[in-house]
Amino acid sequence: MADTHLIPLPRLTEAMRLVVRGFGSHEAEVEAVAGNLIEANLTGHDSHGIGMLPRYAAAFLEGGLAPNTGVQVLHDGGALLKLDGRRGFGQVIGQQAMALGIDRARRHGSCIVALGNSHHLGRIGAWAEQAAAAGLVSLHFVNVISRAIVAPHGGGDARFGTNPFCAGVPLAGRPPVILDFATSVIAQGKTRVAMNKGEPVPEGCLLDDVGLPTTDPRYSVVPPFGALLPFGGALGGHKGYGLALMCELLGGALAAGMTQRDDDASRKRVLNGMFSVLLDPAALAGGDEGAAAFGAEAQAFIHWVQASPAREGFGPVQVAGDAERAHRARRSAEGVPVDSTSWQEILAAAQSLGVSPQAVNAAAGLRG
Ligand SMILES: NC(=O)c1ccc[n+]([C@@H]2O[C@H](COP(=O)([O-])OP(=O)(O)OC[C@H]3O[C@@H](n4cnc5c(N)ncnc54)[C@H](O)[C@@H]3O)[C@@H](O)[C@H]2O)c1
Repeated sequence: MADTHLIPLPRLTEAMRLVVRGFGSHEAEVEAVAGNLIEANLTGHDSHGIGMLPRYAAAFLEGGLAPNTGVQVLHDGGALLKLDGRRGFGQVIGQQAMALGIDRARRHGSCIVALGNSHHLGRIGAWAEQAAAAGLVSLHFVNVISRAIVAPHGGGDARFGTNPFCAGVPLAGRPPVILDFATSVIAQGKTRVAMNKGEPVPEGCLLDDVGLPTTDPRYSVVPPFGALLPFGGALGGHKGYGLALMCELLGGALAAGMTQRDDDASRKRVLNGMFSVLLDPAALAGGDEGAAAFGAEAQAFIHWVQASPAREGFGPVQVAGDAERAHRARRSAEGVPVDSTSWQEILAAAQSLGVSPQAVNAAAGLRG
């Protein structure tokens, strides 16, 4: 297994600001990109954290990622917005798209935001959290335009991306419920992390380049490529596949006018289309009293569900969002683990952007 650096949060933040400045980003973008990626690591999703920077650097150097770019409104229907992300950093585009949608949902009770052509939106839960912080329920169907890496249920090769689905529900007096997952059985970034750590992926996740089951993460990371499987396993794979298909139809065809049909798999840019629904519970429930009744009913249900006795081998029943909050608390206090292979890749990416790897190491408190 590769060595792991445990980097205190303030030092990692400073080091990643240095790397992101290499894109030529203005300071607000530096904060947004570094902050969002580190937040993914803090919440335990290393697959969507700072380890994405080498990919972003390659995309930028190839002309597929446009720093210092904001969303453009293509169609304004009041409670219906069609937005072009113009290949800008998803960390900025996602934030702007949600801010526009939040404003409209507050005014109209709900808003549909159809966002296309954003560069990688990272951890989609960040956008549900933004909506939840504004008191809004949200749903997000997302497609991925990159190399196809997930096979349809029953198919032997990759036809689409890990198309995440996310939903967020704010509740007074407790943290929001945030369900946020890739529709593949594991996220692609987790195969990269596994390969960098020299570990296999669990059985039932991956096919090799001839469509046979494998646990070797390389088939998802370097050619010849195989395919990840949709979640649900042999009996339920049609469900993960079905949700992925909807992400492609809604986040891709409808929101972005672009689906994953492998035209050029060599390009480094990763584009996301996102179909989001934002809803003010008070507007639906006919005012604050109705919203309070919704909140009380929802919380009562959560208590009921969590009263289920833990099965052998499991801890107490959790609710979506709990795992991320526990990770965030621990890693904020103890530091963020980064495997040395991923760290070396980040240093190489920094160098490719004209940023001194020694300066990045020094900021992180590492030698070299
Ligand atoms: N931008 C993109 O193109 C893209 C593509 C794919 C995935 N992603 C992101 O990758 C991240 C990781 O996805 P993933 O599929 O690896 O996530 P995952 O398998 O870790 O599942 C995470 C979800 O399951 C919940 N959860 C975890 N353990 C639980 C438990 N014991 N009980 C109840 N709920 C539990 C979490 O709170 C969270 O909502 C997500 O943030 C996703 O948005 C992004």
